[in-house]
Amino acid sequence: MSELYINETSGVDAVTASGSKESPFQTAAYALYVKEDAKLFVYKKDEETDGYVEISASALKKGKKGAESLKKKAEKAKLAEAQKAQKDADEAAKKLEALKIVIKQDESLPEAKKGKIRDLKVDQRFKVSGWIHRFRAQKGLAFIVLRDGTGYVQAVLSGDLANAYQTQTLTLESTVTLFGTVKKLPEGKQAVGGIELVVDYYEVVGLAPSGEDAFTNKIQEGADPSLLLDQRHLALRGETLSGVMKVRAALLRAIRRVYEEEGLIEVTPPAMVQTQVEGGSTLFKVDYYGEESFLTQSAQLYLETCLPALGDVYCVQESFRAEKSHTRRHLSEYTHIEAELAFLTFDELLKHIEILISRSVKYVLEDPVAGPLIKQLNPDFVAPEAPFKRMEYIHALDWLNEHGVPNEDGEQFKFGDDIAEAAERKMTDDIGVPILLTRFPAEIKSFYMKRCSDDPRVTESVDVLMPTVGEITGGSMRSEGLEELIEGFKREGIKDYDAYYYWFIDQRKYGTSPHGGYGLGTERILAWLTNRFTVRDCSLYPRFSGRCKP
Ligand SMILES: *[C@@H]1O[C@H](CO)[C@@H](O)[C@H](O)[C@H]1NC(C)=O
Repeated sequence: MSELYINETSGVDAVTASGSKESPFQTAAYALYVKEDAKLFVYKKDEETDGYVEISASALKKGKKGAESLKKKAEKAKLAEAQKAQKDADEAAKKLEALKIVIKQDESLPEAKKGKIRDLKVDQRFKVSGWIHRFRAQKGLAFIVLRDGTGYVQAVLSGDLANAYQTQTLTLESTVTLFGTVKKLPEGKQAVGGIELVVDYYEVVGLAPSGEDAFTNKIQEGADPSLLLDQRHLALRGETLSGVMKVRAALLRAIRRVYEEEGLIEVTPPAMVQTQVEGGSTLFKVDYYGEESFLTQSAQLYLETCLPALGDVYCVQESFRAEKSHTRRHLSEYTHIEAELAFLTFDELLKHIEILISRSVKYVLEDPVAGPLIKQLNPDFVAPEAPFKRMEYIHALDWLNEHGVPNEDGEQFKFGDDIAEAAERKMTDDIGVPILLTRFPAEIKSFYMKRCSDDPRVTESVDVLMPTVGEITGGSMRSEGLEELIEGFKREGIKDYDAYYYWFIDQRKYGTSPHGGYGLGTERILAWLTNRFTVRDCSLYPRFSGRCKP
């Protein structure tokens, strides 16, 4: 029977200790685990003792128990190790087997036609490349849902093709080129488009990572929105976001088509400017070779200069607003659809806006890609029909007061109050149809707006309000006279207008005209069309305070 020594402070429970006086163990449990029948001595220091003493009966009992469980633990670990070794061996054997399978193209097959997913036709052999959107492999059978931007198709691999190592280790978001024949799906089986690509050969173009770096670890449904925004470049590959972006493309196409039909010309005004359109507080400053300049808030002033040169014009361009507030309908950068039209009345402007919105929505719904996407994303969507409901600002105040909606100070609305987002939303959602809200007081609108001839307190201005999103468009007739414009500059506190706005003032000097225009927030219309909670979901790479990447 050997002696083993324990020092609870300096001892170690490991093979590096021997259990001698000089190299004690830390616990009795470990010492007994090492040698079941050892005689134990424990280091003790108090007034009487400073050295090793024989272990007490109670400590010995406890130590025996501890040794028991250590033994069990060790046995378990040994078993797990053995199992893992067996599994590794099995897998290695399987891998060896799978590696033996060589995937080769059968040269006797008819030549595969290169095509995108949207081009696939039944009973023809195709060569189609894309990203692995979904993947499932089992013995003898593997399913790939391939994505290439034009659509999705289910591909099926069987036999050696499925069992090959290359197939068994495929990962989501890997790129592949598939060769195979398109087959109509038999009754009862389901896949996108009702077809299936029966693969006879394929090549891996780029294998995406597996394990910790796997795509599914980067993008998880229901993850924190800010994490998803960090991975926006990957999140865009998802069905919903890419769907919204396809609707976005169709919307911009439809808008341009309506403008073409209505005879407006597209122009591309500058983004770096030295003027403001919507108030100085939301300007992004840019150091322009030492001069102060800004990112444009609106192309309106420039569009006005185009009227005498080109007639009615429009642009689709990014606008920038420095707004710290995080609301669901604000972005620091957004795609602004703006138009300016000459020689028309306020009523004609309103009609033009109705046409633009109702007809472009109609075109989007008719689009073979965007139409079904809207049905999927927003099944309850009802296309607005012109004429829209019209309502004057002053009557909106009546409505709000009658329905007990307070103003920003918690009081009844009175003339001159701004209708804040929440109140506006409540009214629009309650009324439930698109509204052209008109004739806002001059004080709460921009310096360039024309006053109504029958009531100079208000302007020929309009906000287009849509149920569930609120304002999507703001427009107005513009003041025509020089004095009126100068008065507007002064009211707005815009200094040095002679130096910075001389070119805009010239529009009133060299052949003024009745004219008006408006701006539409692309992301807001999209949020309405595709039923997204926030405009951030409708922008490719949203920008707002605190977010300028990726
Ligand atoms: C046990 O450990 C303590 C703390 O490290 C140390 O002071 C003491 O000398 C050790 N006892 C023996 C006998 O080595």
